[in-house]
Amino acid sequence: MSRIVYVNGEYLPEEEATISIFDRGFLMADGVYEVTSVLGGRLIDFDGHAARLARSLAELDMAQPITRDELLAVHRELVARNGIEHGMVYLQITRGNPGDRDFAFPDPETTPGTVVMFTQSKPDLLDNAAAANGIKVISLPDLRWTRRDIKTVQLLYPSMGKMAAKAAGAGDAWFVEDGKVTEGTSNNAYIVKDGRIITRELSQDILHGITRAAVLRFAAEAQMVVEERPFTIAEAQAADEAFVTSATTFVTPVIEIDGAALGGGEPGPVAKRLREIYIEESLKAAL
Ligand code: PDD
Repeated sequence: MSRIVYVNGEYLPEEEATISIFDRGFLMADGVYEVTSVLGGRLIDFDGHAARLARSLAELDMAQPITRDELLAVHRELVARNGIEHGMVYLQITRGNPGDRDFAFPDPETTPGTVVMFTQSKPDLLDNAAAANGIKVISLPDLRWTRRDIKTVQLLYPSMGKMAAKAAGAGDAWFVEDGKVTEGTSNNAYIVKDGRIITRELSQDILHGITRAAVLRFAAEAQMVVEERPFTIAEAQAADEAFVTSATTFVTPVIEIDGAALGGGEPGPVAKRLREIYIEESLKAAL
């Protein structure tokens, strides 16, 4: 059975789904996206992702071509039609197809946005080697643009970061700017020292992770101390433990940073506990 995807109001087999070569997402990376995980056939943190999508669109002066309720309906329909138990729904909205290449934004009245959604099945989303054993990370200079709070599809530098990490035998890279860690290539970064959870504060320097917001809320509810401030790689290497969060990895332990092992190279108790709480609490609220 071929995967059913959604393109501009239509459900189609993936082979029949097409986008114009003039689409601004393709030519200019003029588009935003969201990734919502699916656990047990239900959507995790859907409303957080819908709210961030609206914010990304507004920051780029892009119209929202589909309402929150319609988005939810399409997400659910795709999960059902593709029989997704564990996995994710990818959503992308671009500034559409103006019929030519031009730097100026097209008139939204005559050029509607392009909306694409598809599912990816990930049977091992909950139980996988990274979650059980942790990952190694390397550090790289953060050479991305400085509006990282907008979730755009400009993912070339993060892709290069993943490749550099892979070449170094690591699972991911942490970006560093002005001597401080910003975030991972596709996740938010944390360290734990003397029981305190430390992660960079929200600004235009990082993506405002939906998983981050939930994890910090659950941490506070569990009486854990959270410090929102930047940290260096040296401080991270001297930490008791470290972890990353994202919609697709939930809470994943980090056991090595630029060759320095943390906590004896084993996932730490805070990361393990937060992963459990995050999954348990998110499932309760899943749609
Ligand atoms: N990435 N920072 C960056 C740069 C990201 O790309 C992501 C998410 C996050 C975590 O955000 P959230 O908790 O809302 O997923 C932080 C997604 C998963 C991706 O690109 O596939």
